[in-house]
Amino acid sequence: MASLKWADALTLDLPFMDREHQAFEDSIERVDMADDAHLAFVWDDLVACTSEHFAREDLWMRSTGFPAKKAHIVQHLVVLEVMREGLVQAREGRFLQVREMARQLRSWYVKHVQTMDAALARHLRGMRFDPVTVEDVTRAESAGPASAQKPMADRAAITA
Ligand SMILES: [Fe+2]
Ligand SMILES: [Fe+2]
Repeated sequence: MASLKWADALTLDLPFMDREHQAFEDSIERVDMADDAHLAFVWDDLVACTSEHFAREDLWMRSTGFPAKKAHIVQHLVVLEVMREGLVQAREGRFLQVREMARQLRSWYVKHVQTMDAALARHLRGMRFDPVTVEDVTRAESAGPASAQKPMADRAAITA
């Protein structure tokens, strides 16, 4: 019941972003449920899930010229760094510190979603932003020379 209330408070009415936040909530819930023997494993999962989510938000901010992107991206970087330190602690068996970090992370995350992410969601909604298009363009750009040559091949087919 508590996690349902938490999820309601974090809904931003932007389905692709809400889905990512739901994945984070599921992941941190697995941390809460894990015994000490599994804590490093589920924390590792949480770090991976958070890292991917932050990277996507950073991409959305950069590709749409979100005005407040600098502070938001820095906050992602700092939190991820702390979470990686938590992974080291979990692997060293410092479970109490990791559980305290999980508690603080949860409280940071609620504030972050309700302030910085809410502002980003308003910006993206206003632009009728489509994350699939941006991720496709980014994939094509990072594919390098092969995708750069495609238009040439198309041109050759037209002129043949
Ligand atoms: Fe977020
Ligand atoms: Fe964020």
